[in-house]
Formats: sequence, C-alpha cells, structure tokens
Amino acid sequence: MDLVVKGRCYYEGNLAQLCIGIEDGRISRIATNLDGDTVHDYGSRLILPAAIDSHVHMRDPGATHKEDFATGSLAALHGGVTCVLDMPNTDPPTITPDALKEKTVTAASKSVVDFGLFAGVQPGVDIEGLAAGAVGFKLYMAGTMGDLLVPSLGSVEAELRAIAASGKVLAAHAEDECLRRKDPESGLEDHLRNRGNDCETSAVRKLRELRIEGLRTHVCHVSAMDTLPLLSNGGRMTTEVTPHHLLLDKDSKLGAFAKVNPPLRKREDRQALFKALKEGRFDTMASDHAPHTVEEKEEDFDYAPCGMPGVETMVPIMLQLVRERHLALSSLVSRLCERPGELFGIPKGRIGRGYDADLMVVDLTVSTDIKADRLHSKCAWTPYDGLSAIFPKVVFLRGEVMTEDGSLVGERAGRDVVDIAAAR
Ligand code: NCD
Ligand code: ZN
Ligand code: ZN
Ligand code: ZN
Repeated sequence: MDLVVKGRCYYEGNLAQLCIGIEDGRISRIATNLDGDTVHDYGSRLILPAAIDSHVHMRDPGATHKEDFATGSLAALHGGVTCVLDMPNTDPPTITPDALKEKTVTAASKSVVDFGLFAGVQPGVDIEGLAAGAVGFKLYMAGTMGDLLVPSLGSVEAELRAIAASGKVLAAHAEDECLRRKDPESGLEDHLRNRGNDCETSAVRKLRELRIEGLRTHVCHVSAMDTLPLLSNGGRMTTEVTPHHLLLDKDSKLGAFAKVNPPLRKREDRQALFKALKEGRFDTMASDHAPHTVEEKEEDFDYAPCGMPGVETMVPIMLQLVRERHLALSSLVSRLCERPGELFGIPKGRIGRGYDADLMVVDLTVSTDIKADRLHSKCAWTPYDGLSAIFPKVVFLRGEVMTEDGSLVGERAGRDVVDIAAAR
C-alpha cells in the first residue's frame, strides 16, 4: 500500500475507527488495520469524503477580475471541496465545442482541484459535440447573469432530446421569464417582488410537464416553499439547494451584497427549505458560488449584479451545523459528496473501494469565525462574515495532501472529471 490514512472514517453510513489504503490516488482497501509506505494517523479526528460543489461560477474566461480558476479553486480546496462543476455563463459562453475545449485547457492549467464543465443550452448548439467534453448541460429559463436565456422550452426541444440521448444531466435555472417583473429595485424586497415564488413554481411545472424520454432534469437552487410539493414527482427530477437560501432571507441587512437569483425569500421559505433538507428531500447542496467585486456590489441596488460567493464557506458552515446538532452528518455527506458524485458520474464523494482518495480531516470540536480576509476568492468578501464554522484541517486530492492547517502544500494539478470517469 502506498499510503494509509487512519482515523474515525465515515464508511457505509457510520463512523468507525478504520484505515483507508490508497494506491495510485484511489482507495484500494478499507480495514481495521493496514500497513503502508506512508501512514497518516489522525487519531479520533473524522475522515470524511471531500465535497463536490456541483454549481460554481469561476468567471474564467471573461470576468477574471471577479475570479479565475486559480483563485476560485484555491477557495474551494480550503473549504473542503476537491471538485467543482463550473457553469457556462462565461464570456465567451461555453456553448461550442471550441469554447469548451479552451475552457478545459485553462482550467487544467490553473485549477488546484478537479473540475467538470457545464455546456450551455441554446437553440442550434452542437449537443453531441459538447456532450463529449461536458459534465452536464445548463439551461437558463430566466434572465440572470450572462446571455444564455432560453425563454421557451419549445425552442430547444431538439436539443433537449439530444441531451436525453447523451445521458448527461440537464441542470436548470428554474425561474419563468414570463412571470418575471422588471420594476425598478431599491432593495431585497423589490428584488423578491420581481422574481416571486410563482416565478419559480411556474418554471418547475414547465420542466415537470416536459415529455422527453430519458431526460435527467436537475433543478438548481430551489428557493421557494411552494416549489417543494412539486418536487415529489416519482423521482423524475433531482434537486439542488444552496446554503444562502437555507441561511439568509429578504430581511438580511446586506443590501445588494445579498442580491441573488433566485432571490432570498421570506423566513418561512427558508425554514421550509431547512425542514426539507433534514427530511432528505434535496439531492444535492451546492454553493452557486457567484463572485462579484465589492465595487460592483456597491453600485445602486438596481444596477448591482446578482450572486454571492460561497464555495469556501459551504462545507465549514454545514459542519458547524452538524456540531450544533441542527443537521445529521449523514445528510451532509449525502448532499455534498455522495449524491453529486452519483448524479454526475464522478468517481468521488465516497470512502469506498475504487473511488478517488479525496478526503478531508475534520475536528468537530474546533470552530473558527469566518473572516473575509482569510478566504481565497478574488472577490474578497463573504455574506457570512463573523459566522462560526469548521474548516477542514487537512484535505487530500487523489491521495495527495493538498492543504494542512489552512496552508497549501500540494501541487496544482486539477483534472477534468470527464477524463477521470472515462479512464475507469
Ligand atoms: C449567477 C452568476 O452571477 O453567474 N448569479 C446568481 O445570482 N445566482 C447566475 C445564476 O446562477 O443564476
Ligand atoms: Zn501529514
Ligand atoms: Zn442560476
Ligand atoms: Zn449559478
């Protein structure tokens, strides 16, 4: 065995004192005792699978003053995320095989964690060409950042059929452009009024009514309580929830810094989402890491861009909630590691034979306060300043120690998960 990691491992739904044997970056054995060339013994600390953040905007190419693959992936890594799935609303947008290839080259040269790239759905795009290199497809049903709005599903029917045939997931930004109002906004209440709960429920209904054999639809950032009853749909759609829709609402004092799509809603919505999370009704949790600069966010509310950072704080905040017994550890591991891995066909997110040895070492007794100046995103702010959180002590990517006590110690060698999966 090349390497053995010992500790209280999350294995098959339980915590047990175990050894994880690692060869060529993959988990090859799990047993009570194992010998290895190198042994890392973490005593009674927890060993969890590192997280997959299946919804991030690394802004690369086109808006690298906000973020790029180097800074965004470093933020991910320090937050216990060893794999990020990047959205296509960049400039140029990721809607041609060439743009996808170019973004893959950029990410491979800059990213410190593994990555997958979404391709955007637009009428007439080359779905087969894109499917070869994309981890999934993204559909924007309402105007948000970028120019990828598809106002009518009928206009992309052929493309959706081709996506179904490719077997890849269709992730949807589910807000209905027809129900969106465009009144001037001076605060979070106005932003919510322009994108009310009906905006989301209407879009989700349209997705439900799609009759495309084999299409795997994933509803991104579910935010409205009224959407929840629509999701128990015989398992045909999968769903994502974000930390900000669970933790923040329209009464936030953050002004435009909390302007995001879909909007922060009422306290009742937030509470209903949290209850649904506990009941296991969401498949994945993802950050929708959408960084903008402080300067951009300080513009008049109406002009400030939508989105907030979150890739580095998601896992630490959720671990704190586990410590405080608001959330079960199994729920966290399922939403942040196992389900995203299964859904997107990535051999990560689980301590099990054959999986990539992407691990995090966690001490649930040590919390620290989130401080913007200790985070790694280029945007240099966080909506969670001052909140208690548990950052992982050590993070492994494919069997390599990448961070130790908040310092980068590994090499920058992020790989495309589509290639990783194809090589299995
Ligand atoms: C995202 C962005 O900035 O790219 N913004 C947001 O408010 N969530 C786009 C998106 O996910 O809708
Ligand atoms: Zn060590
Ligand atoms: Zn979105
Ligand atoms: Zn997004």
